[in-house]
Amino acid sequence: MPARTRLRQNLGLIIGILMGGLALVILLTPDQESLHVHARGPMNIGHEDLLCEYCHQPARGTLRQQIQANARYLIGLRDSPADFGLSAAGNDQCLACHDRPNNRHPVFRFNEPRFQEARAAIHPETCTSCHLEHRGERTTIESLDYCQHCHDDTVLKNDPVDISHEELIATERWNTCLGCHDFHGNHLMEVAEELDDLIPMEEILIYVRGGESPYGNDKYHEPLTEPVNR
Ligand code: HEC
Ligand code: HEC
Ligand code: HEC
Ligand code: HEC
Ligand code: HEC
Repeated sequence: MPARTRLRQNLGLIIGILMGGLALVILLTPDQESLHVHARGPMNIGHEDLLCEYCHQPARGTLRQQIQANARYLIGLRDSPADFGLSAAGNDQCLACHDRPNNRHPVFRFNEPRFQEARAAIHPETCTSCHLEHRGERTTIESLDYCQHCHDDTVLKNDPVDISHEELIATERWNTCLGCHDFHGNHLMEVAEELDDLIPMEEILIYVRGGESPYGNDKYHEPLTEPVNR
């Protein structure tokens, strides 16, 4: 029997087994949300009470339709696979609650051509480059010396700091920056002028992992607890 005929005969059997398996999965799954919750880690700091739909839209169709569509895709009866469960969350979802007019580093700016190298290195144009969700943390960017990708030519007229920015930058002391400045500029705080008053890196690491803020708790803007339509 030629291989192709054999394949065609077996295909029915294979599809039968696959569909049976999928049906079992559907039957054993109480609802799709609990499946996903167990599959992911804890919500990030401050997000414990948010509804899934604030960040994810349900993908088109019921779970059964999505599985059928993907089965049809696998056997070549459909051109593209279908999204399962939930659609991805991006800047639009974050900004629906966190749009702040005072943000000194708004993501949209970083689409400008002059940030091409910074984009390649750290993707500052998307919130999730630094704030992945479902990690139980505050920020997830790996190293905090990333200021170097944009500030290597920062010079201050009448620099108030006892060791000037020029010197800090020339000696590549990129780990000092967050010791005096928060990133978004949303904390009501006084910026230190002496290197002795630097917030130690350990305290900043505790904060970004989800602990107490070394910049204090007073802010210019608090986020909305429900998204606005943008
Ligand atoms: C504050 C926004 C936010 C909320 C609320 C949220 N998520 Fe997410 N979720 C994200 C982001 C951002 C990602 C992208 C992946 C990442 O960050 O690792 C994601 C990824 C996922 C993924 C993986 C999709 C993939 O393959 O990348 C699943 C599944 C998921 N979320 C389910 C849920 C469920 C269920 C809830 C409600 C309990 C929920 N999410 C609430 C932001 C959110
Ligand atoms: C439905 C509104 C909503 C959405 C959507 C949302 N957030 Fe939040 N976010 C909040 C609230 C409310 C808090 C808690 C603020 C608090 O505890 O003071 C918070 C807290 C945070 C914090 C910690 C704030 C702190 O005080 O240290 C970060 C970081 C954050 N969100 C980033 C994001 C990112 C990134 C996204 C998109 C993936 C996002 N948020 C989507 C409402 C939202
Ligand atoms: C290049 C990295 C980076 C990007 C991109 C980024 N953040 Fe942050 N974010 C940080 C760091 C680092 C902190 C901690 C320092 C601080 O509090 O400013 C932080 C803190 C925060 C906080 C808590 C402090 C505050 O400002 O209230 C919120 C909320 C937040 N980010 C939201 C967002 C949202 C929303 C986006 C996208 C619009 C975003 N971030 C993009 C690095 C980033
Ligand atoms: C992707 C590029 C980029 C990165 C990364 C970046 N910055 Fe900036 N930063 C800018 C731009 C652009 C401005 C606005 C000033 C300008 O046009 O040069 C700015 C302004 C600032 C200001 C002055 C804000 C004001 O309103 O006076 C401070 C302070 C600052 N950044 C600190 C930092 C620190 C600390 C880091 C690292 C944690 C960092 N920046 C990372 C691009 C960046
Ligand atoms: C000892 C504290 C301290 C350290 C460390 C420090 N800064 Fe500053 N920085 C200041 C003060 C004070 C100002 C002036 C007042 C202000 O803008 O808040 C300033 C201003 C700035 C400005 C605004 C410049 C302008 O034109 O107005 C930028 C950008 C900046 N710093 C980036 C950085 C970067 C990048 C690093 C890390 C190499 C860094 N700073 C390290 C205290 C510090």
